[in-house]
Amino acid sequence: MAVLRITKYPEEVLKKKTEPVCEFDAGLQKLIDDMIETMYAAPGVGLAANQVGVSKQVTVIDVSSRDEKSSLIVLVNPAIVHKEGEDTSEEGCLSIPEYTTIVKRAEKVRVTGLDRNGTRIEIEAEGLLARALQHEIDHLNGFLLIDRIGRIKREFFRKRYAREHTVSKE
Ligand code: NI
Repeated sequence: MAVLRITKYPEEVLKKKTEPVCEFDAGLQKLIDDMIETMYAAPGVGLAANQVGVSKQVTVIDVSSRDEKSSLIVLVNPAIVHKEGEDTSEEGCLSIPEYTTIVKRAEKVRVTGLDRNGTRIEIEAEGLLARALQHEIDHLNGFLLIDRIGRIKREFFRKRYAREHTVSKE
């Protein structure tokens, strides 16, 4: 296993919709193991494959706190099939370091997908897990949390980002 580099805003791979996985081969198993290690090392509660530069529909999530038993979820080709309620909370993202913002999400979700062996799974979630699922599935569709906030807040984010980063625009 290896800790991989986490891609950062505004890298292109984060803005692109990822490709569905068709083959559950050794390459996929290695990617998943590396993503798990990278998520725990960060540390983060979730990681999408395009956050390690791979444009595939794979995400790993573990919202348990340090003193709780691990609750690792590996999801391949996930989709939200049901949303309910509304929840407004602060969110951060490993691809946008040192930035958090209030994001409105559904309170409960039902997600379908495949596990790492290609077996179909369904997850009913609320609270932090529901939020993490929506955040990671957003990643797989090419959206970041800054795409989920109002236009004015997003402008503030862009200005702050431009001020803090001296990277020249192409
Ligand atoms: Ni994120």
